Amino acid sequence: MKIGCPAEIKNNENRVGITPNAALAYAQAGHEVFVQKGGGLGSAITDDEYVKAGAKVLATAPEVWAASDMIVKVKEPLAAEYKLMKENQLVYTYFHFAADEELTKACLASKIVAMAYETVQDGNILPLLKPMSEVAGRMSALMGSFYLAKTHGGRGLLPMGVSGVAPAEVVILGGGSVGTNAAFTAAGLGTRVTILDVNINRLEYLHDVMPANVTGLYSDPVNLETSIKTADIVIGAVLIPGAKAPKLLRKEHLKMMRPGSVIVDVAIDQGGCFETSHPTTHSEPTYVVDDIIHYCVANMPGAYARTSTFALNNATLKYGLMLANKGVEAACRESEALLLGLNTYKGAITFKAVAEAFGMLNNYKDPRAVVA
Ligand SMILES: NC(=O)c1ccc[n+]([C@@H]2O[C@H](COP(=O)([O-])OP(=O)(O)OC[C@H]3O[C@@H](n4cnc5c(N)ncnc54)[C@H](O)[C@@H]3O)[C@@H](O)[C@H]2O)c1
Repeated sequence: MKIGCPAEIKNNENRVGITPNAALAYAQAGHEVFVQKGGGLGSAITDDEYVKAGAKVLATAPEVWAASDMIVKVKEPLAAEYKLMKENQLVYTYFHFAADEELTKACLASKIVAMAYETVQDGNILPLLKPMSEVAGRMSALMGSFYLAKTHGGRGLLPMGVSGVAPAEVVILGGGSVGTNAAFTAAGLGTRVTILDVNINRLEYLHDVMPANVTGLYSDPVNLETSIKTADIVIGAVLIPGAKAPKLLRKEHLKMMRPGSVIVDVAIDQGGCFETSHPTTHSEPTYVVDDIIHYCVANMPGAYARTSTFALNNATLKYGLMLANKGVEAACRESEALLLGLNTYKGAITFKAVAEAFGMLNNYKDPRAVVA
């Protein structure tokens, strides 16, 4: 198969879809790999490293898209890339369709096959979301702490406190991959952490593994309201796979919080779990509503690009090789995990929650049927 990796064009997105190690693995499996000139530089990877791994460097994004049967990326195609997508082309990347109707329509119109990292599911695990959730989770505690400084617009709290002065309180909504990593980092910084989830088994697990400064709480409206009243940082990390995030923190809740507190909506890529969230970028990461600082960067791991690129490739390569070696249909027939990642197929939606999000059930097809 001809496999292409264009440079990312989203604001401050420095990750890249294929590392030289992954390029070598694809080449050794008999595939041809094209990378865009300079595409790895944001992750401190040179063109030379790709050439040594057997990849061919092409000058522009249109050349890479045109040469490839399968595109391996990081972020969803942006408007400038819509016209580069080709009928029947397999695009293997994050899409987060439920938060983006325009992207959904563009992918349907171009009749690509969209294999979305975020819904590939192996048992209860989302293996291609997990590495980025680790990064974003750890980072969310750092970003929340950073903006608590008075000089960054916050309440002027040193997160870990000092002798005789209490540390900050961190509330985390959702105790999955993001929430757990946020909790470990916030706890390690010495803050007092409360983590809310609706999954009893997950709460049990958190109870067993978390340090003493982390408390697990069942997520219901009363516990949420009580927790946020004393929170200095609230981190949004809930997920209902493939669907829009539920709006747990509403506008009226902001008035109950202390001015200068920080909310970090990591779930913003699925529409956000705070009512007042809207996506921000690394160049302008925050804005203020009702005296509460909102940090809602949709591609947080882009800031720690090299770590993130290698962590992502460790997870995507296995499934990428299955897709390239067998073709998307056979790979999906053999792997339930990949079948669940199939979001659009040649003009039809094949992921029910996406069709439901936009009232497009008339254009929904069972993924099992399209790959049969
Ligand atoms: N902004 C970014 O750069 C970035 C990076 C990585 C991940 N994310 C996003 O972060 C979100 C969380 O990802 P994850 O990997 O942790 O998912 P996950 O599936 O591991 O965890 C989600 C958790 O939310 C819990 N949950 C569901 N409904 C809830 C509710 N009402 N109250 C409390 N908890 C609830 C679930 O039980 C689960 O434990 C996703 O939207 C993901 O796309 C964003």
